Amino acid sequence: MRKPAVLITGASGEIGHGLIDQLAADGDRAIVTLDVAPLDASLAKKVHRETIGSILDRVALERLLAEFEVDQVFHLAALLSTRSEYSPLTAHEVNVGGTLNLLEFAQQQSSTHGRPVIFLYPSSIAVYGMPSLEVKASAGRVKENQWTESTTMYGCNKLYCEQLGRYYARHYKQLSAEHSGQVDFRAVRFPGLISALTVPSGGTSDYAPEMIHAAAKGEPYACFVRPDARIPFMAMPDGVAALLTLAKAPRAALTLPSYNLGAFAPTAAAIEQEVRRAFPKAEISYKVDTKRQGIVDTWPGDVDDSAARRDWGFNPKHGFESAFREYLIPTIKKRYA
Ligand code: SER
Repeated sequence: MRKPAVLITGASGEIGHGLIDQLAADGDRAIVTLDVAPLDASLAKKVHRETIGSILDRVALERLLAEFEVDQVFHLAALLSTRSEYSPLTAHEVNVGGTLNLLEFAQQQSSTHGRPVIFLYPSSIAVYGMPSLEVKASAGRVKENQWTESTTMYGCNKLYCEQLGRYYARHYKQLSAEHSGQVDFRAVRFPGLISALTVPSGGTSDYAPEMIHAAAKGEPYACFVRPDARIPFMAMPDGVAALLTLAKAPRAALTLPSYNLGAFAPTAAAIEQEVRRAFPKAEISYKVDTKRQGIVDTWPGDVDDSAARRDWGFNPKHGFESAFREYLIPTIKKRYA
C-alpha cells in the first residue's frame, strides 16, 4: 500500500519553512515536497521525499502520483506580484498552469484512493484592485466579493485560480456519465506576511520585512513606498497556523471558496516606528518607487476577515505590537546575533 502523504509545492519558500516544521511535528503523514530550489538542510531532514523540480513538470507529478497516496496538498509555489509584472507570461504559466497541474493531480489522486484530497491554496490581497486612493480610504475593511478587479498579473492569476479550485471542487466534468474523485479546495487571501526567519523576494509587500531585517542586520534601508502606505499584514506563524486550521475544518462549515485573512494594518510609518523602537540606530529613509507604490495603492487598507473567524475559527495570535515585540524582534535578534 502506498504511504498516505501531504504534498507541499514551493516548499523551500517562506511559508514552507514554518509549515514543514508543524507538519513534521504532527507526524501523521509522510511529507513530500516539490520545489525548483532545494530545501535548507534543517528542513530536508524532516521530509520523507524532497523532489527538486517544477510544478510544470507533469512527469514529476505522475511519478509522485504513482508512489504516494496524497490526501492533502499545500500548493504554495508561485511568482509573487512584483516579479510577475516583469514577466507576465511566465507568471501566468507558473501561477495558473502550475495550479491547473496540481488540481488535476489532486483529482487523479482522489479517484485512485477514493478519498477527497484537501487542497490548500494561498491566494492574496493582490486579488483586489481599489480604483483610487479616495475609494481605498473610504472603503474600510473590504469583503471577499468587493473590488476584485486586480491591476496585477499575479492578482488576476490568484483570482482565476480561486475560480478553478471552485470548479474542480464542485463542477468538475459535470457532463460526463461517471466522474469519481473529489478535490476539497480551500483558499485564503493572505495579507502581507512577515517572517523573522526568511526574507521574501519578488513581492510588493516586501517593504515591511525588508525594513525589519535590514535594521536587524545594521544595514540602511530605503523604503519603496510612502510613509502613509497602508495594507494588512500578518506574522508568519499565524499564516501557517491559519492554513493548518483551515485544513482541519469540517467541510460543512465552509461557506466561501476563499477567505480574507488579516491581523493588523499599519502604515509604513508605523512599521518604521516599531522598528526604531527595537533598533534605535536603524537608518531608514524613503525612496518611493511610484510604480510599486501604485500597486500597493490598489490593495485595500484592511480586509474584513469575519467569515474566516466565523466559519473555521481563524484567530491570529499576534496583533501589531505583539507581532513585533513577542515574535519578530526577539526571533530576528537571535537570527542575526
Ligand atoms: N506578498 C505578496 C506580494 O507582495 C502578496 O500576496 O506579492
